[in-house]
Amino acid sequence: TNKTKITAVIGHPLDHSLSPLLHNEFYRREGIGAAMIPITHPDVAELVRIIRTIPLCLTAVTVPHKQTIISFLDEIDLTAKEIGAVNTVINKDGKLTGYNTDIVGVAYALRDVDFKGKRVLLLGAGGAAMPVAYYVREQGGELLCYNRTAEKAKELINLFGGNVITQLSQLELEPPDVIVNSTVVGMYPNIDESPLPSSLLTEHQTVFDVIYNPNETKLLCEAKAAGARAINGLSMFAAQGLEQERLWVGTEASIEEYKDFLLKK
Ligand code: ATR
Repeated sequence: TNKTKITAVIGHPLDHSLSPLLHNEFYRREGIGAAMIPITHPDVAELVRIIRTIPLCLTAVTVPHKQTIISFLDEIDLTAKEIGAVNTVINKDGKLTGYNTDIVGVAYALRDVDFKGKRVLLLGAGGAAMPVAYYVREQGGELLCYNRTAEKAKELINLFGGNVITQLSQLELEPPDVIVNSTVVGMYPNIDESPLPSSLLTEHQTVFDVIYNPNETKLLCEAKAAGARAINGLSMFAAQGLEQERLWVGTEASIEEYKDFLLKK
């Protein structure tokens, strides 16, 4: 209607994103007069201009803008500031505030994994890696970070503590207890790629992939084949998305119900 509020997911590329599906289903079930659209652009400044002019009430932020968007916002929530990444922008009467709901998603997906004293290999050092590192530190895990660009892994370790891994083969003698993939390697459409050689997978591990499209990445298939516990990114995705709506409209929804809805799609 002419009262419909517009929300968006912004990123580049956006082919993989299920955010419109999740949020529009939420608006339908909850009877909220809003619609989410995807807006893809490589320049974050241009996207922030769009947020202000349309205006977009709620914006979900994804690759590669989660860190670069910070300097364009009017206010950053304290946890998002500590994490160093924003995946949610709420526009209240023209004032843009950045939040990080990925941390809620990570905590939900990994709620029954014991991190205390465990060696945790984090693959990637971008916007999706930061909440994982924050959570691992909070839970008392020992962080090991490997990233294609080693400099970024160093920056992450400087912030959260732990060690940089420069060669994955360093870990062959003593494979990590928990492995988290926060890179885009293996994400649709590059589903035949894995960020980790399968020789590092063992039956004693828990392997979590933040990717939710495809539902089971090559990494998770190989983890299962090795006898490891595999956790896909769908719980995290549903939890972080519903937290975005809780921040905007204040309604709490069942993560598992929406996860089932997404699984059927
Ligand atoms: P996001 O906000 O989703 O984390 P990002 O900040 O662009 O997105 O980070 C993407 C992550 O995937 C980074 O760790 C990136 O590595 P670089 O820091 O070297 O760019 C990683 N990544 C992307 N494409 C990759 C590839 N082909 N191989 C290995 N790592 C890759």
